[in-house]
Amino acid sequence: MSNTITVSANNPYPVIIGRALLGELAPLLGEKVAKVLVIHPVGLSASAELVKETLEAAGYECLLAGVPDSEDAKRVEVAAFCWTILGQADFTRSDAVIGFGGGSTTDLAGFVAATWLRGVRLIQIPTTLLGMVDASVGGKTGINTSEGKNLVGAFHSPSGVLVDLDALQTLAKNEILAGFAEVVKYGFIADPVILDLIENNLAEATDPSSDVFEEIVSRSIQIKSNVVGVDFKENGLREILNYGHTLGHAIELAERYKWRHGAAISIGMVFVAELARLAGRLPDAVVDRHRSILTALGLPISYPAEKWPQLLATMKRDKKARGANLRFIVLDDLAKPTVMTAPTEEMLFAAFQEITA
Ligand code: GLY
Repeated sequence: MSNTITVSANNPYPVIIGRALLGELAPLLGEKVAKVLVIHPVGLSASAELVKETLEAAGYECLLAGVPDSEDAKRVEVAAFCWTILGQADFTRSDAVIGFGGGSTTDLAGFVAATWLRGVRLIQIPTTLLGMVDASVGGKTGINTSEGKNLVGAFHSPSGVLVDLDALQTLAKNEILAGFAEVVKYGFIADPVILDLIENNLAEATDPSSDVFEEIVSRSIQIKSNVVGVDFKENGLREILNYGHTLGHAIELAERYKWRHGAAISIGMVFVAELARLAGRLPDAVVDRHRSILTALGLPISYPAEKWPQLLATMKRDKKARGANLRFIVLDDLAKPTVMTAPTEEMLFAAFQEITA
């Protein structure tokens, strides 16, 4: 059993959600494709071989590119390694790239697909919860430079995304829980049923083999799909997906990217909830709900007080700051996201004090 969400950005494409989905891969690639490069982290080499066998059985010529794990994949040298493989194997504009791995791998694979011959077909097969509900859907691709994350990239939609929940069976529980920070984000900004499902049965909700888990993933992808369908290039609505991310990104930098993304944005969400409460916009109960659900998921909700000057300086540099003004996505209520522009430093500091350890 699988269900399909159609993302209507640019050329519409399917996100197929289910289990044991490799049989869906050849129909997604189509008949015009002859060669496929599967970009995967070296740690997933055995599973990537299975993808290769599936593709070869369907008549495609398949090459594998093993790349470093996590953010180490998102370097220009790694993209160049992939371009060399594509060049030496004479990949044409009608061939394809597959990203098979977590969010860093799919970001890299997307960037390679976007840049090879000015854009070739891309299929994403995310293998982490974060990749499934966020990175692989929506067409943002990119790599990092020494000056910052995602500074080089392109919008390049995939032709299809396979969200095979079986891939999560071997993922460490804390990886899954970290991915839940993005899921909780969708709950607060757009679909509070997600919050109810988590709160009503935490064990089932976080078990990748359960139907509740599948529903939560589908609901999350539906929100992402709705948002990028309206605002593919982040000129407006898509900004709501940055809920909790402004402080979250500053924490990631302060922690030298050793923290999981979800842990950092968990704190970031409590921060903006406090900011909205102090501005008289968000009821106490919704702020408390941030703390209770994130704590139940084992995610952090506080941060050391002495880090504030460093975090503030980083936020001011955040690429999402427009002009001189800091911008935060805040809630006026559940599922009512809005932009708060240029809050005073006093107000930001007051909100931060509410989350200090
Ligand atoms: N991860 C945020 C976005 O795709 O816009």
